[in-house]
Amino acid sequence: MPLYKNIIAPLLFTQDAEKVHHWITALLEKGFSNALASFFLKKVYSPKVYPDLKQKIWGIDFQHPIGLAAGFDKDAKLIKPLSNLGFSFIEIGTLTPVAQPGNERPRLFRLKDDQALINRMGFNNGGVADSIERLKKKGNIIVGGNIGKNKVTPNDKAVEDYLKCFNALYPYVDYFVLNVSSPNTPGLRALQDKEPLRELIQTVQKANNSQSKPKPILLKIAPDLSTFELDDIVEVLQLCRLDGVIATNTTVDRSGLTASKQKIDTIGLGGLSGRPVANRSTEIIKYLREKLGPEPIIIGVGGVFNGRDAIQKLHAGANLIQAYTGFIYEGPKFIKKALQEMDYGLKSGHWTWKNRRI
Ligand SMILES: Cc1cc2nc3c(=O)[nH]c(=O)nc-3n(C[C@H](O)[C@H](O)[C@H](O)COP(=O)(O)O)c2cc1C
Repeated sequence: MPLYKNIIAPLLFTQDAEKVHHWITALLEKGFSNALASFFLKKVYSPKVYPDLKQKIWGIDFQHPIGLAAGFDKDAKLIKPLSNLGFSFIEIGTLTPVAQPGNERPRLFRLKDDQALINRMGFNNGGVADSIERLKKKGNIIVGGNIGKNKVTPNDKAVEDYLKCFNALYPYVDYFVLNVSSPNTPGLRALQDKEPLRELIQTVQKANNSQSKPKPILLKIAPDLSTFELDDIVEVLQLCRLDGVIATNTTVDRSGLTASKQKIDTIGLGGLSGRPVANRSTEIIKYLREKLGPEPIIIGVGGVFNGRDAIQKLHAGANLIQAYTGFIYEGPKFIKKALQEMDYGLKSGHWTWKNRRI
């Protein structure tokens, strides 16, 4: 009987969602970072090596396609234990130049019947400088730096915030993500508009190109963009020759949920993640792949709970996958199980991985 899904999760899910997040992260940080505990985590949860799931992207060897999405380990405190749980890469952040507390609590909610979460965390993080000592010790684990702006920074100064985070993190991460799609920082998503977006990308690219070894830069977009807005983004991405896109962040849409209208109204504002965002995110991946052609890397995220969900996104044109909510609902065996399913699917001919990069 799956211990996490049948016993641990139902117990944890009786408690406040953010409180549980802090318990789990404290346990991982304090209890599972030493050598003995690392050995245990690896032994029990690390997936097998699947040669057919490996890829080489940006000259980096990915053991398999599934990484951890931004927001779970904002301050880079859990890189090692999360890697021991099998994620092939970890995205830290969103980090901002200055530490900020985020929105008032409660700000994280479960919609169990929808296998979803609603959050309005608001970029709570310890500030970019705080994570650096820890990042210096990350070893060869692949880490992405997801960066944003402080709440108090007006949009016409936003570029400076991204630049500060980029410069501070540059030596310590393997790729960058410009997050312009969180619904929880007022006005942030306006940075997805053509002109501010072009200015943001080109400024960060200039700083990147002045380095001896520029790093891949990706843009993280919202699932709520219209076709018209997506076309604008495609145009800017092509103009700037950006390395890739992460599709998608959480949605502000509340349609088609099982949870009662009263419950949803009581929760209020925030970004919805998990199952309900899966199809929209896959649709966007497909649209972007058609428009962008084969070159830019697309990281597909939104409602991945198992190997089949990951395969759907790879089929739609993603090169890598990330998950957050699926990990919360499925537990520590999430990666091990998903990879088993993916490998079985490949071996039994249920799917072929056409866009694999080797
Ligand atoms: C509690 C929570 C906090 C999040 N924080 C961030 C964040 O700081 N930056 C970001 O780019 N995405 C953040 N996300 C969005 C996730 O990275 C991901 O894009 C989204 O949840 C969809 O994936 P999922 O359905 O697998 O959760 C957060 C999601 C959740 C649930």
